[in-house]
Amino acid sequence: MKQIFIWVLSFWTVIGIGLSRSDAGLEEFNAKERLLSFLETAVVSNSLQVPLTLIQGAASKGAVCLDGTPPGYHLDRGFGSGSNSWLIQLEGGGWCNTIRSCVLRKTTRRGSSKFMEKQINFTGILSNKAEQNPDFYNWNRVKLRYCDGASFAGEGQNEANQLYFRGQRIWSAAMEDLMAKGMHNAEQALLSGCSAGGLASILHCDEFKDLFPKTTKVKCLSDAGLFLDATNVAGGHTLRDMYGGVVTLQGVQNNLPSTCTSQMPPTSCFFPQNLVANIKTPMFLLNAAYDAWQVQESLIPSSADPNGFWRDCKMDQAHCNSSQMLFLQDFRNQMLNAINDFSKSNQNGLFINSCFAHCQSERQDTWYENDSPRIGNKAIAVSVGDWFFDRMSVKAIDCPYPCDNSCHNLIFNDDVTSTITISESTSLTFTLLNLLSAFLITLTCSKCIMGGLSLTGD
Ligand SMILES: *[C@@H]1O[C@H](CO)[C@@H](O)[C@H](O)[C@H]1NC(C)=O
Ligand SMILES: *[C@@H]1O[C@H](CO)[C@@H](O)[C@H](O)[C@H]1NC(C)=O
Repeated sequence: MKQIFIWVLSFWTVIGIGLSRSDAGLEEFNAKERLLSFLETAVVSNSLQVPLTLIQGAASKGAVCLDGTPPGYHLDRGFGSGSNSWLIQLEGGGWCNTIRSCVLRKTTRRGSSKFMEKQINFTGILSNKAEQNPDFYNWNRVKLRYCDGASFAGEGQNEANQLYFRGQRIWSAAMEDLMAKGMHNAEQALLSGCSAGGLASILHCDEFKDLFPKTTKVKCLSDAGLFLDATNVAGGHTLRDMYGGVVTLQGVQNNLPSTCTSQMPPTSCFFPQNLVANIKTPMFLLNAAYDAWQVQESLIPSSADPNGFWRDCKMDQAHCNSSQMLFLQDFRNQMLNAINDFSKSNQNGLFINSCFAHCQSERQDTWYENDSPRIGNKAIAVSVGDWFFDRMSVKAIDCPYPCDNSCHNLIFNDDVTSTITISESTSLTFTLLNLLSAFLITLTCSKCIMGGLSLTGD
C-alpha cells in the first residue's frame, strides 16, 4: 500500500511540476492571442465579405506559412475610376520569438492557412462603400494574410520542429501573384498594414515602390506600426527582448535595410524609430500616442507588474493616477521624438492622436464615421486621402491626453487582460502543492524504508 502511495505521490510531483510549467507557457500564449483578437474585433453591420484565395505556386517557391501550408489573401476587384488603383493591406497579429510560441502559432490562423477564415469582412479602409471609405472604396483592395510571425521578413526553417520562417518569400510570392493579376498596370498604389502589418509596411515600403515603373504613384501607410524600443514600468525592455528572439530565430537580419544594419545591431533595425527617416517612398504614420497594444504588452506587461499596481490603469486610462499618467505621457514624448526627422520631409504624412487605441484604419468606427476620431476636425480617412492625393499636407499631432474627446478609447476587461495574472497564481499554487507532496514523499519514505525493513522482518 505504502509503495503505491509513494508511487502516486512521486508521479504527481514530477508530472505536476512539468504540467504547471508548460501550462504557464500555453496560458501566456492564449492570453496574448485573446488580446490580439480583442484588438481585432470590430462592430460590423452588413459589410462586404471577401473570400480567401490561396496563392497558387507559392509553395513551390518555398513561400509557406509557419506550418508549411500556402499563404493567402482576400482580393476585391476595383471598379470605375478605381480599376487601376491598388491597395495592399498587410494583416497584423503579433510575432513569435521562440520555438515554442512558433509551434503553438502553427495551430492558429496566424501560422497556418488551414485555420484562416474562408472569408473576412472588408471594413474601414477596405470597405467598398463610398460613404464608409471615401477615397479608396473603388480601388482593387487586398488583405494579405499574416502567417509567418516575423512581419513578412523572416528567412529560414527549423527542421526538428517543422517550422518554416518564410515571411520574406511570402511577401515576394504575393506581390508576384498580384502583379500577374493586374497590379502591374497600376496607376497608383498604396501599401498599408496594421500592427505587425504596419511594421511590415515600413520594412517593405521601398521594395514595394521598386515593383512599379517610376510613373506609378506609390505610397505607404503604417497604422499602429510605431513600436518603440521603450522601457517598461519595471525598467526592463520587454519588446526589445522579444524582437531579439524574432530576428534571431526567424533569420530576419538579411532582410532589414542595410542603411540601418550597417549602423546598429539587427534587433535595433526591427524598430521603426531607426528606419522611418531613411525610407525614400512617401509614407504616412498613423498611430495612437498611447498605443493600446504597447501599453498592454510593452509598457505594462504582467511580468513587469507582479503586484498589480498598474492593473486598473492598464485596463482603463481613466483609472491612472497622476504619476502613472506621467509615465504614459513620457511614452508619447518618445513617440514624437522617434518621428522628428521623419516629419521634416514634405512627402510624409502624420496622424498621431492622443487616444488609447490600436489599428484605426481597419475599423469602421475609427476610420470614417460621424463620431470617428479627429484632429482639427478631420477624420483619419480624410487625412490619409488628403495626403495620398496631395490635396494638402497632413502633419497632425494631437495635444496630450485628455484634450481629445473624439477618441474611441479601448477599455479592457478581466477576460482580456487578467489571464496571465490568474494563470501565474494558479500555476504557483499547483507547483506549491507539488512541492508539498515531494516533502510528503521524503517524510513517508523514511518511514517506508523502516516499514520495508519491518516487512522483511515479517
Ligand atoms: C463578419 O461579420 C459578421 C457579422 O456581420 C460576423 O458574424 C463574422 O464573424 C465576421 N467575420 C469575421 C471573419 O470576422
Ligand atoms: C500611483 O499608483 C502607484 C501604484 O499603485 C503608486 O506607487 C504611486 O505612488 C501612485 N502615485 C500617486 C501620485 O498617487
